[in-house]
Amino acid sequence: MNGLTGTIRESARRPSPLRPNSSFSFENPIAPSDMSVHPVIHEGRVAVITGAASGIGRAAAVELAKIGLKIAIADVSADALRETGVEVAKIVGDANVLVVPTDVSKLDDVVRLRDRVYEAWGEVGVLMNNAGIGPTGTSWEGLDAWHNIFDVNLWGVLHVQQTFVPSMLHQENPAVIINTGSKQGITNPPGNAAYNASKAAVKSLTEGLAHELRNVPQASLTAHLLIPGWVWTGLTGAKNGGEKPPGAWTPQETVLYMLDHVRQGTFYILCPDNETRREVDQLRIMWTAGDVAEGRPALSRWHRDYKALFEEYLRDGLAQLD
Ligand SMILES: NC(=O)c1ccc[n+]([C@@H]2O[C@H](COP(=O)([O-])OP(=O)(O)OC[C@H]3O[C@@H](n4cnc5c(N)ncnc54)[C@H](O)[C@@H]3O)[C@@H](O)[C@H]2O)c1
Repeated sequence: MNGLTGTIRESARRPSPLRPNSSFSFENPIAPSDMSVHPVIHEGRVAVITGAASGIGRAAAVELAKIGLKIAIADVSADALRETGVEVAKIVGDANVLVVPTDVSKLDDVVRLRDRVYEAWGEVGVLMNNAGIGPTGTSWEGLDAWHNIFDVNLWGVLHVQQTFVPSMLHQENPAVIINTGSKQGITNPPGNAAYNASKAAVKSLTEGLAHELRNVPQASLTAHLLIPGWVWTGLTGAKNGGEKPPGAWTPQETVLYMLDHVRQGTFYILCPDNETRREVDQLRIMWTAGDVAEGRPALSRWHRDYKALFEEYLRDGLAQLD
């Protein structure tokens, strides 16, 4: 071991407030509310879901329809969107479904979507800003992919947020906006720098939105960041057919978890899956924050000098929690 590595190792082992100890609690501080009387997620309210032709968005349309909400679905993939529309109409009836082919990267499309929804139903209770793509762009290659990803994952989310929020703010009834982020926007794993950066931007803009909304007098609109785990969808291979891998959650599991947490008022809806339990995610997130706070190299979790330390940190952290 050289001197530098020795110094790094000692400082990295120092007790840190970022590491869990016996008095550390991972419990959600917000008590569950009465699920049966949630003011937004209930019969007769209106849900608008982007990216609803597939995966999480489609499952959200179906689950919210089962609760009795009116459903407006939007997606760039018009044929698949129509299929979702048929499925949702079987649950809530044709009059309670709006199918609006929409490319969220185009502001005009998003404005048209909002106008259609307000003309039909006059309000929005649940706005799920969910459309997303994941072509790979690395740090010095794939510029087209970077443009495409940011057009949809950042500008699409921003178009929807900027178009709908001013109208939703003037509604008397409470409402929620749920932006879909990703763990990759928080822990930044190597592999798709473009996707990670776009989802980091979604985290940042949704945090800003939540803060700004809670400082608007009399506003009853709250923002939430959905952070899915590994979900078996079009994005992760389901469109090619085949069985769901055992480690992944279904879109339905993810949506039911999300709805429970929106009801509880949770901002960061950090979803587990069958491979990664919540405590592992929490430790990974704290390690990532520790890179900055403790001055470790970027992405130290994957750095050859720190990989083993990270594994030890995770093992120790989980042992303290179990
Ligand atoms: N599946 C996962 O493991 C996972 C994990 C973390 C985050 N997410 C996020 O969840 C969200 C939903 O993705 P999914 O996993 O259900 O994938 P999916 O591919 O099944 O669904 C995404 C939908 O977005 C639509 N879409 C793409 N570009 C669009 C555009 N310009 N305008 C409108 N719609 C557009 C697609 O046509 C598709 O129907 C995405 O934001 C994704 O980044 C997914």
